[in-house]
Amino acid sequence: MHLLVTGGAGFIGANFVHLTRRTRPDVSITVVDSMTYAANRDSLAGLDAVRIVEVDVSELAVVDPLVAEADVVVHFAAESHNDNSLDSPWPFLRSNIMGTFSVLEACRKHGTRLHHISTDEVYGDLDLDDPSKFDEFTPYNPSSPYSASKASSDLLVRAWVRSFGVRATISNCSNNYGPYQHVEKFIPRQITEVLEGRRPKLYGAGLNVRDWIHVDDHNSAVWSILDRGEMGRTYLIGADGEVNNLTVVQTILKLMGRDPNGFDHVSDRPGHDLRYAIDSSTLRRELGWKPDFVDFEAGLQATIDWFTHNRGWWQPQKAAVEAKYARTQEVIK
Ligand code: DAU
Repeated sequence: MHLLVTGGAGFIGANFVHLTRRTRPDVSITVVDSMTYAANRDSLAGLDAVRIVEVDVSELAVVDPLVAEADVVVHFAAESHNDNSLDSPWPFLRSNIMGTFSVLEACRKHGTRLHHISTDEVYGDLDLDDPSKFDEFTPYNPSSPYSASKASSDLLVRAWVRSFGVRATISNCSNNYGPYQHVEKFIPRQITEVLEGRRPKLYGAGLNVRDWIHVDDHNSAVWSILDRGEMGRTYLIGADGEVNNLTVVQTILKLMGRDPNGFDHVSDRPGHDLRYAIDSSTLRRELGWKPDFVDFEAGLQATIDWFTHNRGWWQPQKAAVEAKYARTQEVIK
């Protein structure tokens, strides 16, 4: 099998390439990535038989021949950080909507199977005491420019399946953590703040809940869908990992040997989604998938260890990320 992995130098895509190399030696891989700030060639360093093509997926003329030679396309490429989408929405519309359009057009032309990676944020948010979780029947209700652009991309995929018979599946996953995650995101930001001798930064009161999943569990679910998923279907991926942000920060501080209250409250994200929660029972029941990382503290400890031992991977980006945050976030006394 020849796989085309879009966004394969980003966090989840690079981990997907690593997992595939470890577990499927017969699969050959081409990574297509525009190598924006969120991508990192070093995330793929040392991997054999991975071809890397540096190009923007929204350029159909360049993506088309790459799709032509692939058996399957896994489409990770996306702008993914909510805070950036609030600052500057246009790159999100371009990458997430136009990028998906061009991948779809190439798959339509060449009859190539597509798996589209999406997010639980397309469903909006839940109240803290809402007994329900997101499932494949939850109506779309995105809150931010980022989640609206991902919702748009999902709808394009559904339309191309129905109108043109494109052989595609979609997955919507909850918050990922693990190695190679950009330091702008919540967990790596806090770990690297502590490693740099500073205090973690919590938005608002920290009561917002995210449903954490280790990136390897997300990617093993993607492989279950590639192997056994039904064309045209949407699968929700989650590992029952609901935790509020305050608890995550305090756990990181505790695991790193610091005072669990040694963090700062900073100004909140505008339109901040309160809670995400995924019902992944369809995926588990129909495709027999289950997560391996069921102990969140153990997964966090492994992630802390990775960032501790890979300073050279994240340090070049850290100062610029913090300078950008400093322009919009104030410490609340
Ligand atoms: O739910 C899936 C989504 O998870 C993905 O689609 C997104 O690409 C991914 O970025 C993530 O979105 P979030 O906005 O939930 O992730 P983020 O890491 O930015 O923030 C997680 C939570 O932590 C959120 O409630 C905001 C809060 N936060 C974030 C940062 C960066 C803080 O309290 N302090 C921070 O410094």
